[in-house]
Amino acid sequence: MIGGGWAARFLLNGVDVQIHDPDPAAPGTLDEMLANARRAYAKLTLVPLPAEGRLRFVESVEAAVHGADLVHESAPERIELKRRLLAQASRAAAPGVPLCSSTSGLRPTELATDVQHPERLLVAHPFNPVYLLPLVELCGGQATDPAVLERTGRSLRAVGMQPLTVRAEIDGFIADRLLEALWREALWLVHDGVATVEEVDDAVRYGAGLRWALMGTFLTYRIAGGPRGMRHFMAQFGPTLQAPWSKLTDVPELTPAFLDTITAQSDAQAGGHSIRELERWRDDGLVAVLHGLRTQDAGAGATLSRWERGLRAGGQSGDRAAEAAEAAEAAEGAEAAEAAEAAEGAPLRLLTREVPAAWIDYNDHVHESRYLQLCADATDALLTRLGIGPESVVRAAASFYTVETRLTHLQALVAGDRAAVSTQVLGADEKRLHVWHVIERTGEPAATAEQMLVHVDTATGRAAPMAPALRARVQALAAAHAHLPRPAPAPDLASRLQAARRS
Ligand SMILES: NC(=O)c1ccc[n+]([C@@H]2O[C@H](COP(=O)([O-])OP(=O)(O)OC[C@H]3O[C@@H](n4cnc5c(N)ncnc54)[C@H](O)[C@@H]3O)[C@@H](O)[C@H]2O)c1
Repeated sequence: MIGGGWAARFLLNGVDVQIHDPDPAAPGTLDEMLANARRAYAKLTLVPLPAEGRLRFVESVEAAVHGADLVHESAPERIELKRRLLAQASRAAAPGVPLCSSTSGLRPTELATDVQHPERLLVAHPFNPVYLLPLVELCGGQATDPAVLERTGRSLRAVGMQPLTVRAEIDGFIADRLLEALWREALWLVHDGVATVEEVDDAVRYGAGLRWALMGTFLTYRIAGGPRGMRHFMAQFGPTLQAPWSKLTDVPELTPAFLDTITAQSDAQAGGHSIRELERWRDDGLVAVLHGLRTQDAGAGATLSRWERGLRAGGQSGDRAAEAAEAAEAAEGAEAAEAAEAAEGAPLRLLTREVPAAWIDYNDHVHESRYLQLCADATDALLTRLGIGPESVVRAAASFYTVETRLTHLQALVAGDRAAVSTQVLGADEKRLHVWHVIERTGEPAATAEQMLVHVDTATGRAAPMAPALRARVQALAAAHAHLPRPAPAPDLASRLQAARRS
């Protein structure tokens, strides 16, 4: 469950993954989970994702950690097993490579007993589904180097996570302490026949659960205190902490009869749906919540926005110096290739994207709106190349807005196609940029789009001349493309009808 979720998050962020799992069914399970994760990401973001990382299943722990930049142990919650695996990994991994355990509650110092270079061992405790939920609790042991915690946090941020460093080494960290308290009470309520499992879930999801995603606990109560604030809230509700119902700290015994009750009620609640179906239902709901939170720039929605900014900037591939150098080289290479293309006057190739299954409509080919999306993404890539992005829009209070798109469909794209968009600048003046996109499927045009963009002062919402530096960049590109053959203008309706009659 958790190892697969980590793998999905890394792979979809363009990171290569090597897995060792003795269960022969593991590759099949991961395949199913990856399919769900791909589906969720296609809904989660419109920003083009990097090419998926390469996945390899290997025969040993040593092979799995060989050449790795980051190691994650997500084996069953048994301390001797985790100790053994982490020790084995530590002997094979390069000395500086962080070794993370996904443990839900074991202390890192206890896991580090046989680890070589224990200064790089830490807990990185994620939440299911790891590919969608951003929280990861980082907890170091007595020997852990704080710099390793920081470095691991940076790597995990780069793949869209929200690290929370736990200040003290405690059992269960922060989140599981809270979850255990709720879980204990939930079990008691079912045990005592006060509520069914479904009624317990309803008590969470129709009320406090809605607030938690936005505000957590303390901010919720701060607001509940009204204008007189937290002190008033504490005065009002503090004394109820003495009430008998808030002191239940023992746990129900998990007798066979109690387990039967929970299992039967839970099966009824699942309504015969398979685990993968339930996961898809859960993922769609989580994506909707994340999108809602993104509109408020709040909580996990703000993390989603930050990840998307990173994807747009191409900064999703981790933080090792070598990797950064490679990325810079690749970027320079790409820039050089673009410059050469521009100098030779070839159209720019700024976007390629594998067509996800989620884009397919009832005709078994890509829904028409997605052709526009591809063109819009290519236009964004063109603007990024011209130095325009989220930061510059805020800084300069100026951006390009698309005022017209004329889209022509030539052949259908289907799931799994690799769509490549080439972009030609047809012209520009001080306020306008005229572009032509061709979406290609295996080298043949699948659609074309002509777009007119207007440079806008975002404060007034009115067309405004470009700043001189931007104007120069736009003009240079327009000049480089000036001698390219211009696309034939679309025929008017009368001549189309005539041509149709002739044929
Ligand atoms: N399930 C959750 O919601 C959740 C959340 C956060 C953290 N965790 C933690 O993540 C860890 C894994 O939990 P899970 O729920 O994914 O369990 P799981 O049973 O789904 O997965 C454990 C995997 O480890 C493999 N495994 C067993 N022995 C191994 C070995 N010797 N070497 C390599 N792999 C081996 C198993 O084949 C299995 O695929 C636990 O430490 C758990 O506390 C779980």
